[in-house]
Amino acid sequence: MKWPAEAVWEAVVPLLPGFTVEVLPQVDSTNSELMRRARAGQAEPVLLVAEQQTAGRGRMGRTWHAQPGDALMFSLGLPLAPADWSGLSLAVGVSLAESLHPAVQLKWPNDLWLQDRKLGGILIETASFGQSGQEQRYAVVGVGINLAARDAAGLSTPPAWLAELLPQCDAGQALLRVAPGLVQALLAFQESGFAPFQVRFNARDALRDRPVVLSDGTAGTAHGASESGALLVHTPGGMKPITSSEVSVRPRR
Ligand code: BTN
Repeated sequence: MKWPAEAVWEAVVPLLPGFTVEVLPQVDSTNSELMRRARAGQAEPVLLVAEQQTAGRGRMGRTWHAQPGDALMFSLGLPLAPADWSGLSLAVGVSLAESLHPAVQLKWPNDLWLQDRKLGGILIETASFGQSGQEQRYAVVGVGINLAARDAAGLSTPPAWLAELLPQCDAGQALLRVAPGLVQALLAFQESGFAPFQVRFNARDALRDRPVVLSDGTAGTAHGASESGALLVHTPGGMKPITSSEVSVRPRR
């Protein structure tokens, strides 16, 4: 597979000095690899793409499987120092959705959705590096986007794939489409937090005004993201801001 590594590098390096792009035929998980490097003191900005992952990870300890060629899988690692981290995964989702297609929606907190099916997911992890007392944080933003039809077994929602929207778009083109905007979004988030992304998230919110059920059993109606990225759910007990990543939310059908 031919990757447009140089084109991605050229688009990103003016924003992120020292940035590199690396393509691996196989790795356990691009997130795990960048987290290992950060813990070992390698904290340069890098975009790591894998053609295959043998132990891809999703949120909440889930696995993330894809056959080679069926998904775009990459992680972007960079030092990041926002005043407030809340809403980061939503800002990442906004950027990816806007770079991909007007029909791509967002399901709080960080799934890309197409017509109520999962198109992609985001896994953000952070590691600290540097001297004690002057520690900095390294963010690893992992992105998986389905490109082609895949086996739906074991998935809680049936999948969607990018070819439904962009039939000619292969993994390399999809990467080139999303990477520069993602870096811009992370730098904007570092500067100004989630607030500038709130309206943009809400414009693509797949749950907006829909009945939802939280994993703790609470039922209500979703009312978009708050200024800090919490999901606002109108429940019989009043408006509830949902912030915990341990609470999952699904539309009530
Ligand atoms: C989710 O849907 O729960 C998040 C899925 C994130 C998958 C991507 S694929 C590239 C990166 N490496 C991983 O191990 N996970 C992320």
